[in-house]
Amino acid sequence: MAMAFWLLFSPFLFLSVSANTQTKVTDNPADELVAVLNSNRTAHKSSSLADNQGLACIALQYIKAFQGDCKAIGESKKPSDSLFAELFAPSCDVDTSTLTPITGRLLGCQSKYVEPSEAFSMLMENEKSLEILYNKNHTEVGAAVTGTDGGGPYFWCVLFSSGKHNSSFVPQGGVAKISRPGCFSGANDQCSGADNLSRPSHMWLYAVAAFVAAGYAFGL
Ligand SMILES: *[C@@H]1O[C@H](CO)[C@@H](O)[C@H](O)[C@H]1NC(C)=O
Ligand SMILES: *[C@@H]1O[C@H](CO)[C@@H](O)[C@H](O)[C@H]1NC(C)=O
Ligand SMILES: *[C@@H]1O[C@H](CO)[C@@H](O)[C@H](O)[C@H]1NC(C)=O
Ligand SMILES: *[C@@H]1O[C@H](CO)[C@@H](O)[C@H](O)[C@H]1NC(C)=O
Repeated sequence: MAMAFWLLFSPFLFLSVSANTQTKVTDNPADELVAVLNSNRTAHKSSSLADNQGLACIALQYIKAFQGDCKAIGESKKPSDSLFAELFAPSCDVDTSTLTPITGRLLGCQSKYVEPSEAFSMLMENEKSLEILYNKNHTEVGAAVTGTDGGGPYFWCVLFSSGKHNSSFVPQGGVAKISRPGCFSGANDQCSGADNLSRPSHMWLYAVAAFVAAGYAFGL
């Protein structure tokens, strides 16, 4: 009775409660993307991948290296490999000696923010994506999303690796350095990707999918 009264006179509270029940993992779109991806893999009889926060933090730095240039993704440009050891790992407090080969990469950007399940579909639009998603060499995954300058474009990145969960992409001190803007998976970090919806949206959308050569040089 008291509850009904409260809800009746607090429509705002009611809305925020119902919104919370939709996002189970944590309030973090990158965690949700990993959940969607893993449920798709397991439905396909592939293993569920461990969510590695160090790898996910690196995925966020990887996106940031594009400096908001969505077209660069459409043109399949990518940050130099040496940046993993020189910039991405240090930015995440990840011990560079624990960097492990990347076995696949999914990358996309578009002008408007979409829910993680839609972002997954966007990343899957590339013809190579399914092949990468179901690759048996992956053992772990890390996902990230960020907007740019408080608005679009929104970049999504999934990196896969064949590392052992405990001994690859290990953050010094056990926790990857949280940096904003942007959200990454695996760190139990509450993070909202939908905060930054201020810009008008355009039509463009780009997604790429790529195997990354095993034996990836990290410039160590
Ligand atoms: C997995 O994702 C692909 C690409 O979006 C989709 O075609 C397929 O139906 C999904 N499988 C399941 C079981 O959801
Ligand atoms: C898995 O890794 C092995 C060894 O690096 C490689 O030869 C093989 O092509 C990879 N398989 C896939 C599906 O990428
Ligand atoms: C991970 O490492 C911890 C501590 O180093 C250990 O207790 C745990 O068994 C390891 N887990 C796996 C899956 O290797
Ligand atoms: C959204 O923008 C605000 C202010 O610019 C920033 O603090 C926040 O981290 C951004 N969120 C994401 C998910 O990028």
